Amino acid sequence: MTANDATGPSGSGTAGPGSYQRASLFSQRIRYGGDYNPEQWPAEVWRDDVRLMSEAGVNLATVGVFSWALLEPEEGRYSFGWLREVLDLLGAAGIGVDLSTPTASPPPWLATRYPETLPVDARGARYHHGSRQHFCVHSPAYLRLALRIVEKLVEEVGDHEAIEMWHVHNEYACHVPYCYCDESARAFRSWLEKRYGSLDALNDAWGTAFWSQRYASFAEVIPPRMTPTFVNPGQELDFHRFTSDAFLDEMCAERAILRAARPGVPVTTNLMGAFKPLDYFAWARELDVVSTDNYQDPGDPEAPMRSALHYDLVRSLDKSAPWMVMEQSSSRVNWRPHNVAKPPGAMRAYSYQAIARGADGVLFFQWRASRAGAEKFHSAMVSHAGEASPVWHEVAGLGRELARVGPLHGTTVEASAALLVSWPSWWAMEAPGKPANDLQMVDQVEWMYRPLYGRGVTVDACRPDEPLGTYGAVLVPSLYLLGEEEGANIVGYVEAGGTAIVSFWSGIVDEHDRVHLGTYGGPIRSLYGCDVLEVAPLPPGETVRIEWTDGTQTEGTFWLDLVSATDGEVLASVASGPWAGRPAVVEARRGKGRVLYVATRLDDAGLARLYDLVPALAGEPAVTAAGPGVERVVRSSPEVSYEILLNHTGDARTVQLASPGVELTTDRTVEGSLVLGSRGVAVVRRERRP
Ligand code: GAL
Repeated sequence: MTANDATGPSGSGTAGPGSYQRASLFSQRIRYGGDYNPEQWPAEVWRDDVRLMSEAGVNLATVGVFSWALLEPEEGRYSFGWLREVLDLLGAAGIGVDLSTPTASPPPWLATRYPETLPVDARGARYHHGSRQHFCVHSPAYLRLALRIVEKLVEEVGDHEAIEMWHVHNEYACHVPYCYCDESARAFRSWLEKRYGSLDALNDAWGTAFWSQRYASFAEVIPPRMTPTFVNPGQELDFHRFTSDAFLDEMCAERAILRAARPGVPVTTNLMGAFKPLDYFAWARELDVVSTDNYQDPGDPEAPMRSALHYDLVRSLDKSAPWMVMEQSSSRVNWRPHNVAKPPGAMRAYSYQAIARGADGVLFFQWRASRAGAEKFHSAMVSHAGEASPVWHEVAGLGRELARVGPLHGTTVEASAALLVSWPSWWAMEAPGKPANDLQMVDQVEWMYRPLYGRGVTVDACRPDEPLGTYGAVLVPSLYLLGEEEGANIVGYVEAGGTAIVSFWSGIVDEHDRVHLGTYGGPIRSLYGCDVLEVAPLPPGETVRIEWTDGTQTEGTFWLDLVSATDGEVLASVASGPWAGRPAVVEARRGKGRVLYVATRLDDAGLARLYDLVPALAGEPAVTAAGPGVERVVRSSPEVSYEILLNHTGDARTVQLASPGVELTTDRTVEGSLVLGSRGVAVVRRERRP
């Protein structure tokens, strides 16, 4: 199966992605709720659940995620009565259901009877049941049984009026992203035959003349199993592509069954932000609602920035689709080595952060904390201590409060800058054998994003090949793999008047991970105003002084290209070490636009200097003045704007308002300066004058 087969993305639709209007989907309210696992509790508890849900303003419950073993206790024997009863209870209380297919955790009978469905690691060891996600997505037996339980689900309860959304599977690829079994090998070979058409093309793309790797037949090709040293990088890159496609095909096959049953009900699956194994740009195109799971680490001082980046990425995956948080935690998780609780107010502030960045719903894992099982110490909306827990008061308080901010629903987040992200580039860049094997895609993205977050600049993530014309600036953080068309898109954006900031280690290889020969930069080297002659990491921890033309000094770390200026203007030069005197930042004019090439990892002060040169990156002085930890995002419609202000710190912070407005959570008029208490939130509504 490929992503274009009849069961796949293009062949299944009764209603295409993006065809659901935000208004009809979320009925003008922010969705609130969580994963509801009634199968873990006796039926008496269900009634209490519904009572508490109503008290907490819950309006969407995700049901059935891990229910396969209960729905089909033995192969071909089904038990759906309990599920219908749960849906009846929720429906009667006016709580919408996000009904999940249960395919993320096959029951023990399936693994026992069909051991070939169990995935195999690169060393050839098979996984076992007893946990979850123990399946190979290429296994015909798994696929047959998974699609059959989805059909049965639809047949038994698919007509239930409480169902407002379909939730396919759960966190595709989360624990076992790659399977190396013989079925996977077969599927990989047929994927490659389709992609390349001939062995010669494959040998050429993978550069198999190296290390005597030339293939004489497709039958010799295997997944990148355990090898003595580095595996062929082209093979590895294609294995990433193939795996992302295969999971997506499975999602589309389930989606086809759900859509056929209820064409008007939107479909989602929960993504995980910057999750490397799956190319979420391709995934988002197939979803009616994009949803994500985000577990901030309260022990990480940079968690607010990372969480904002997560939401900016998810919002941007499909810029025309609504999105929501499918899972967050009310307090601590239980899967980090040390699981810090969210301090009072943090859960509310993070929920508003998602809403500020465009989410139309915030849900949790999970509704009621489990009594047994691997996640019994994970926080929940209803803790073990129940209504006595302070967590419950925050959860119920937020649910009630969200009714006041309903009008935010469906409004748009406007971003002034784009940050280019590419999954194939990520895969290729982090394969071994590089000058700096500690160069990580997410680090590079955060490096460029961090100062923008600090100054209140809202950023969209964009594919290198999507239209960029609406953005005042485009940031290119180490876009290692860049195809000709992607490069031409960036060149076109600049020539039409855009400003691009391009960092080192961009445009290095083509779509097969083969070097673009010549000075570095491949299809965008003509933009640079300098030649990148050599690429090299700096010794760990070492810094170089960077001197700007006005004499200011900042620092560079991690990496330093050996650059020679051509027609560009040198804005800053290396001022220490063996490469002193070489350009570090070069500006070039191209067409109606300009490009700033950055040859090292500038420190925050250096990046701030650079961003000050670009009007679209100027940010909001009020945010900077309020100090670190204050975040501001604007959502708007043509008539109204909502300025959302968040204080992620434990101290009060003051923000100067540009003009008066009505603060929605208190329904008070605010003007002048606004004091945000510890982890405080404000949503300021203003009419937009034509
Ligand atoms: C998610 C998963 C949930 C639960 C949660 C715990 O990854 O979808 O089922 O395990 O993590 O944080």
